[in-house]
Amino acid sequence: MMFTKTFGLAAAFATLASALPSGMMVKRNDTQPASGTVLITNNLAQDVYAWSVSDDVGPMQTLSANGGTYTEAWRANPNGGGISIKLATNPDQSDVLQFEYTESADTIYWDLSCINMEANSEFTQYGFSVLPSDSGNSSDCPSAVCKAGDSACAAAYLQPTDDHATHGCPIDTGLALTIGQ
Ligand SMILES: *[C@@H]1O[C@H](CO)[C@@H](O)[C@H](O)[C@H]1NC(C)=O
Ligand SMILES: *[C@@H]1O[C@H](CO)[C@@H](O)[C@H](O)[C@H]1NC(C)=O
Repeated sequence: MMFTKTFGLAAAFATLASALPSGMMVKRNDTQPASGTVLITNNLAQDVYAWSVSDDVGPMQTLSANGGTYTEAWRANPNGGGISIKLATNPDQSDVLQFEYTESADTIYWDLSCINMEANSEFTQYGFSVLPSDSGNSSDCPSAVCKAGDSACAAAYLQPTDDHATHGCPIDTGLALTIGQ
């Protein structure tokens, strides 16, 4: 009886130990985006949900934990505005990081927005970034990196007036949006 209990406890500890890394990022998916697309990669240890919003809200996409992806070729909003890809760690749109883009002739304008994201979001906790496939020499097409824990990231919109956070890249650029660094 005693032995069974002790063994049970040891087994419980073993289970706990093997479960520990689940809170950390253990794998990465470094696949690169195709030309003229955004490739969103989830390197968190939890699923991430995405909705591509134009004049209507597209179906919910699930980016599985540890390397799941969602990719989208540049598309136009029939209403003339931009596209917003909303990203959340819960399957609803109440607390979202947004990747926004608008095509204009040979330029793709894009930004990251934290305006509808809670301050304690997992995205802030683990960091996120957008890296253009060919940053070339254009100072208008830089990377945008929000490091883990940076709740005042200058590379993203925190206020609707943060116009410095909008970038313009050649239309054939591929943008790699990575969640978790
Ligand atoms: C990594 O990204 C590629 C490209 O999107 C995808 O096909 C692949 O399934 C991803 N790997 C994992 C482990 O999810
Ligand atoms: C960037 O600038 C360097 C130095 O002026 C030049 O050698 C290089 O070809 C440029 N690269 C691109 C992609 O324009």
